[in-house]
Amino acid sequence: MTSLPVAILGATGAVGQTFIRLLADHPWFRIAEVAASERSAGKRYGDVTKWIEGTMPEEVAGMEVTLCDPATVRSPLVFSALDASAAAVLEPAFAADGRFVLSNAKNFRMERDVPLVIPEVNASHLALLDAQRARGWTGGVVTNANCAATVAAMALAPLHEAFGLRELFLATMQAVSGAGYPGVPSLDILGNVIPFIGDEEPKLEREMQKMLGALAGDAIAPAPFVVSAHANRVPVEHGHTVVMSARFARKPSLPEAIEALRAWRGAAAVHGLPSAPALPLVVTDDESRPQPRRDVGAGRGMTVTVGRVRTDAIFDLKLVAMCTTPFAMSSALRIDPPAAPRIVLCPIATS
Ligand SMILES: NC(=O)c1ccc[n+]([C@@H]2O[C@H](COP(=O)([O-])OP(=O)(O)OC[C@H]3O[C@@H](n4cnc5c(N)ncnc54)[C@H](OP(=O)(O)O)[C@@H]3O)[C@@H](O)[C@H]2O)c1
Repeated sequence: MTSLPVAILGATGAVGQTFIRLLADHPWFRIAEVAASERSAGKRYGDVTKWIEGTMPEEVAGMEVTLCDPATVRSPLVFSALDASAAAVLEPAFAADGRFVLSNAKNFRMERDVPLVIPEVNASHLALLDAQRARGWTGGVVTNANCAATVAAMALAPLHEAFGLRELFLATMQAVSGAGYPGVPSLDILGNVIPFIGDEEPKLEREMQKMLGALAGDAIAPAPFVVSAHANRVPVEHGHTVVMSARFARKPSLPEAIEALRAWRGAAAVHGLPSAPALPLVVTDDESRPQPRRDVGAGRGMTVTVGRVRTDAIFDLKLVAMCTTPFAMSSALRIDPPAAPRIVLCPIATS
């Protein structure tokens, strides 16, 4: 199979670099273009990028960075790691120009016609792309969710499907990698916990209902549950931990809940895709886990590890979920232009 040329917008940033790491050896995609702001455009990628982890792929280091302009960037599929202020303008411009934009930015997540995707959880939501034709776009925008909301939603998806989630209390312990680079100053975070992450709690309190909602015509009917979220930044390099207490329409017994989690495999559309882990969720019996240090690499960073599933004195159940910021981004494999875009999922993680 010939690989599909893809572009990365915001390629010089922390998330852009993760896209590059994950796409560098991908069997379906070829990094054809790297784009960023005027600061970097026209320069060699390796010269303008402060590479954060591991070794920069050689083939990318030598590429010339282009402007994020649909007239310059030609790839049909575009991964956007743009700053939110730039994404607001540029992502619609690419979609209007017939490109499919897979975005990490927050701007369009809650728009009625934009899929907010965790491929294993709600692959069917991609049908919303058809509704974007009403905007006059020949391409489209697909977004991923807030990283901690993604970890929680993955763990809750099987429980919601089986028992109907109604109330959720959660507290996060989020890694510094989620703040990008240079991120949180070391003197603020070393030996410390910061009980505030800007704009994080509102995202945690609104995005999961859309992700776990049902496709209803040209919109998503949000799942009918309420969330109370506490977001904390902790001195962990990679891996967001989320502790949760949940109430359901039908209270499950502990064995029923654990069985629902263990049996869950996620949407069939995702099975066997190149970056998909064998198991999207793993339930550990070790009462001292999940731990970022020990479990962050599960499923090459794509598996959410769940542990400490137990009954709750106030709600029905409590549990802990952890994963390396799995933005679980959907990537397009096949696009049937021009009228009927079809996207086959390929989840990849950024961190
Ligand atoms: N870091 C995370 O873990 C994380 C998690 C979830 C979501 N996100 C979201 O992902 C996006 C990227 O985050 P990040 O941490 O990677 O940010 P970042 O390191 O600041 O990188 C931002 C990127 O956007 C480019 N850019 C900025 N303004 C631009 C403009 N006007 N036109 C074109 N390109 C422009 C920058 O290019 P130059 O280098 O040329 O300036 C850079 O490549 C943000 O929307 C963020 O909220 C990040």
